[in-house]
Amino acid sequence: MDQPIPTTLRRVVFLNPKGGSGKSTLATNLAAFYAASGMQTVLMDFDPQASSWRWLKARPSTLAHIHGIAAYERPAGVTRSFHLRLPPGTSRVVVDTPAALEPGEIAEFTRDADAILVPVLPSPIDIRACARCIEHLLTTAKVKRRESRLAVVANRVRPNTLVFHSLIRFLGTLDIPLVATLRESQNYIRAADTGIGLHEMQPERSHPDMAQWVPLVTWVESRGMPASKGVEASA
Ligand SMILES: Nc1ncnc2c1ncn2[C@@H]1O[C@H](COP(=O)(O)OP(=O)(O)OP(=O)(O)O)[C@@H](O)[C@H]1O
Ligand SMILES: [Mg+2]
Repeated sequence: MDQPIPTTLRRVVFLNPKGGSGKSTLATNLAAFYAASGMQTVLMDFDPQASSWRWLKARPSTLAHIHGIAAYERPAGVTRSFHLRLPPGTSRVVVDTPAALEPGEIAEFTRDADAILVPVLPSPIDIRACARCIEHLLTTAKVKRRESRLAVVANRVRPNTLVFHSLIRFLGTLDIPLVATLRESQNYIRAADTGIGLHEMQPERSHPDMAQWVPLVTWVESRGMPASKGVEASA
């Protein structure tokens, strides 16, 4: 993105009760993108598996700082709100959530979110799980389509496969925007191991992946702007 990013606080939640859909991968890469863009960024990991937390621990100290919160921990002697407090000046909060969430927990995680992104893999099982997740978001969590804060990201995509076309057809029936399509790429696996983000890799290596992130970041950054209200409205 060439435009400077506004610094008003924004909370982005990655959520899909289906394991392995890409929540931690997307959360860590978005956090790295924001930090590298000069935003004061917090990465909150609510998953006891701690994938995002471990990624942050592996992050080289030479790279832009990301404030981590191991939100899955319940440390003794401090209140929950103290444990989850944001440092002053925080402008982006990226939230990684666990798999196997109950509908009630989905509502909790999304209540204060400015943007809710559901990563989905192109497979019949993942498509069905995504349908259930979206249903819980719209019913139990009462996320309204007209709020335009809910979108889907197709992850680990091999274009021109039958299953990818099934995913696109399915998303068309949901009336929820598909804001990005990310390919299957070794860069994500390397980034996960080394605590870096795609945007911090050699551009010649990561360029095709970075290009796929532009619509995702653009969509997230336009949430809450007057022009975004009603754009994808239907409910
Ligand atoms: N676009 C991609 N290309 C290649 N590998 C990917 C991609 N996205 C995710 N992966 C890999 O897939 C695996 C699962 O991804 P990830 O851990 O982000 O999923 P998750 O939804 O957070 O899983 P969980 O529900 O267990 O927390 C990881 O090994 C990750 O490196
Ligand atoms: Mg995870």
